[in-house]
Amino acid sequence: MKALIYALPKAELHIHLEGSLEPELLFKLAEKNQIKLAYSSIGELRKAYRFDNLQQFLDIYYLGAEVLQTEQDFYDLTWAYLLQCKEEGVVHVEPCFDPQIHTDRGIDFGSVINGISRALADGEKTLAISSFLILAFLRHLSEESALQTLAQALPYREHFKAVGLDSSELGHPPEKFKTVFAKARQLGLLTVAHAGEEGPVEYIWQALDLLKVARIDHGVKAFADQALMQRLIDEQMPLTVCPLSNTKLKVFASMSEHNILQMLDRGVKVTVNSDDPAYFGGYIAANYMALATALPMTIKQLKQLAINSIEASFLDAESKQQHIDKIIITG
Ligand code: HPA
Ligand code: ZN
Repeated sequence: MKALIYALPKAELHIHLEGSLEPELLFKLAEKNQIKLAYSSIGELRKAYRFDNLQQFLDIYYLGAEVLQTEQDFYDLTWAYLLQCKEEGVVHVEPCFDPQIHTDRGIDFGSVINGISRALADGEKTLAISSFLILAFLRHLSEESALQTLAQALPYREHFKAVGLDSSELGHPPEKFKTVFAKARQLGLLTVAHAGEEGPVEYIWQALDLLKVARIDHGVKAFADQALMQRLIDEQMPLTVCPLSNTKLKVFASMSEHNILQMLDRGVKVTVNSDDPAYFGGYIAANYMALATALPMTIKQLKQLAINSIEASFLDAESKQQHIDKIIITG
């Protein structure tokens, strides 16, 4: 099973680049940029990575991201993630980033997106990993701030394919961002949104109806709503599920309680992703492995998850078919 997990061509569709900042690089950048950390060692920092909910994680994630300052820092962050993808058989990535974390502390938007985009272009050239970038808005901030961020991003329009919505879910429903998402769609951008991670099913309905998303990030709460489940199945609406994130943030008490395989068997287009791999205990292969260990996952289910990851991507039909053909003959 492990060898097959690594060997299958896979796409990763839900990963926050700032969440791939490993403690080693975090310390290195803090030293280079002369930023004083609240932790005296890598070991001490790792010990702080224990969370009871999403907000506790976000508080540490935003602090960690402060060590990212220059265009090269964003390049190095993205490049390290792509090297890991190469190790694990990931052939296509659609990572997101949170520009407001950086611009709100005075970092130039261009430095952020140019560093990331340059690494993604190099990944395509030298690692054969294709990619589309997603610009995410922080939902705990105002819609006005999201609109300003979108305006700031327009000179870099060719560097991103979609907009997303992340950060503290409870109390910040998708409807709060209706106008900025409409504007993004008018510009030809695709849309995705975190919904139904900690928040209620109502937020998933809103993401579909008001934000007109092409995918739901997380969405695991949908399982409790039969009408919503039927809609997800009928529309083949992808969910980008993140098993290790869900157990680390206590969305599920244990991996054996995770509903991803039940959703898969019902015909929902679920995919496996790492969310914030440096904080939640591993990259995409670790997420597949965690499922294979805790649940009776069959090879057929594993292959369907890999196929779903390609089908749910923003790749064109021909590229999708090429990857899927390889999945079918692998193993
Ligand atoms: N949920 C919401 N916002 C986030 C997450 C997440 O899992 N990771 C980084 N930002
Ligand atoms: Zn996420």
